[in-house]
Amino acid sequence: MDKQNDQSRMDKIVSLAKRRGFIFQSSEIYGGLNGFWDYGPLGVALKRNLKDCWWQDMVSGHDELATPAGAPEPYEMAGLDCTIIMHPQVWKVSGHFDLFHDWLVDCRESKKRYRYDHLHGRFASHRNKRVFVVTDQSGDDALPHTLTRAQKFFGLRAKQIEEIQWEGGIEPLAAGIAAGTILTAETLAPDAAELGTLTDPREFNLMFETRIGALAGGDDDRAFLRPETAQGIFMNFKNVLDTSRVSVPFGIAQIGKSFRNEITPRNFTFRSREFEQMEIEFFCKPADSTAWYRYWRDRRWKWYLDLGLTAGKLQLREHHADELSHYSVGTADIEYAFPFLAEGEFGELEGIAHRGDFDLRSHSEGKLVRQDGQLVVEQGVDGKPRHRGSGKDLSYFDDVTRERYVPHVIEPSAGADRAVLAFLCDAYHEDEVPDEDGKPRSRTVLKLHPRLAPLKVAILPLVKKDGMPELAAELYRKLKPHMAAMYDEKGSVGRRYARQDEAGTPWCITVDGQSLTDRTVTLRDRDTLVQSRVAVDAVVDLLRDRLRTGVS
Ligand code: GAP
Repeated sequence: MDKQNDQSRMDKIVSLAKRRGFIFQSSEIYGGLNGFWDYGPLGVALKRNLKDCWWQDMVSGHDELATPAGAPEPYEMAGLDCTIIMHPQVWKVSGHFDLFHDWLVDCRESKKRYRYDHLHGRFASHRNKRVFVVTDQSGDDALPHTLTRAQKFFGLRAKQIEEIQWEGGIEPLAAGIAAGTILTAETLAPDAAELGTLTDPREFNLMFETRIGALAGGDDDRAFLRPETAQGIFMNFKNVLDTSRVSVPFGIAQIGKSFRNEITPRNFTFRSREFEQMEIEFFCKPADSTAWYRYWRDRRWKWYLDLGLTAGKLQLREHHADELSHYSVGTADIEYAFPFLAEGEFGELEGIAHRGDFDLRSHSEGKLVRQDGQLVVEQGVDGKPRHRGSGKDLSYFDDVTRERYVPHVIEPSAGADRAVLAFLCDAYHEDEVPDEDGKPRSRTVLKLHPRLAPLKVAILPLVKKDGMPELAAELYRKLKPHMAAMYDEKGSVGRRYARQDEAGTPWCITVDGQSLTDRTVTLRDRDTLVQSRVAVDAVVDLLRDRLRTGVS
């Protein structure tokens, strides 16, 4: 599919998401708030189902007695739900206070603000003028954007654009400035008419700040909304160990909101300022950590495939050594080819990181930095720890081997909103189905996995008389305690099917004339369109079984 088709596909997905009540812009009646999104009736069900699948598959349904395929040994899992606002020292010791920032630049003319690493461009010359035309567009949109910007800057008509001479392809602005091959004075900012309007880059911490208490004002009241759920798990490592009967190896899982003051939220919900994460911190013996890293990487990859994401659109990317955080021994990203990205580009759904003993040691000893290949406590100018740890012993004593060690951590960290977006994009299809008269009718259908689908089944009386609504209501009431079911008697049956296809409902049940004589109904499958007759009394068991096995 070419880029333009892909972009129009994305536009259709965004429009369906709004029209059918999956996702709305936050505070829309006041013009919306950039980077914040609300989930409507269908969206909240989809997102809840996704989080429930994750919790069921990773935590509550985990078999602690068996060794899962690829795992070194059986392991335990525990859950947690901790606060969004934590002691400010957490973020100082974790490194977020000092290091969790992006570089931004402002445009003095347009007053717009950009992420420095999102600015690219190319040199254009016309007559005796040479400028570096900067764009904030990504992928395939970048080149055409520089073309229209240059045309406007040089004051050319469409037929004169051939007169512009271009040097090379798109290159990052930051690298050119750093190398001295691009001068700020010759840059044309993405929304400016004059040259040289971009400021020098400056750091911008992504944590949202707040104040605690009525007497807020002093530095002691300063607190932060968590930018990740992971730190709450480290805070409770000892609590979980001391109060539940888990022993290493074990994982603690948490689903919850995180907040990042992203400079340029974009691509629908992909980069939001408020979003949900589904994170596991898995604690293991240092010697086994590489095997556990591989296990979690492969386990998490398989989870997306099992829930139906198209294998060809997923990518597992191991980070190069120079991409790794200073504490990480290995990291892999699970990425998806979102339609808003250029051909060949992928967006991150989840990162699986081998974090070594960095977190537990930091929260015990103080913020760590790597020096000569070793993690050591960072010193301030006064020779004292730059950010003090808790001083609590976060090591683990193994009763069997009589060893004491600081466990290593493997962290599979997924975004719930990004996963919802990927499943929505992947499920979106347009095809043709025969209408009631057998004529082809185009339809939009969300082919969501039945476990994820907001509604599992719709019950439709063929007509609103002759006892059909009563039998349909009876069936609806039988199904409702077991799964999300809907009763719909409004409009032609074709239109009702179309509404359910767009909502991603895997099954529709029609109560017709025959149902009244033999108590059978028609069961229609969303994807195969196969219609079969099923006894009313067999419907609940049949659909529960299909939901359990994931067969649509
Ligand atoms: N504890 C590790 C951590 O937070 P991360 O790669 O920064 O790692 C993990 O975030 C996941 O959270 C990402 O893979 C993504 O799915 C999601 N995520 C991160 N920033 C996001 C944002 N601004 N909007 C939506 N999801 C985001």
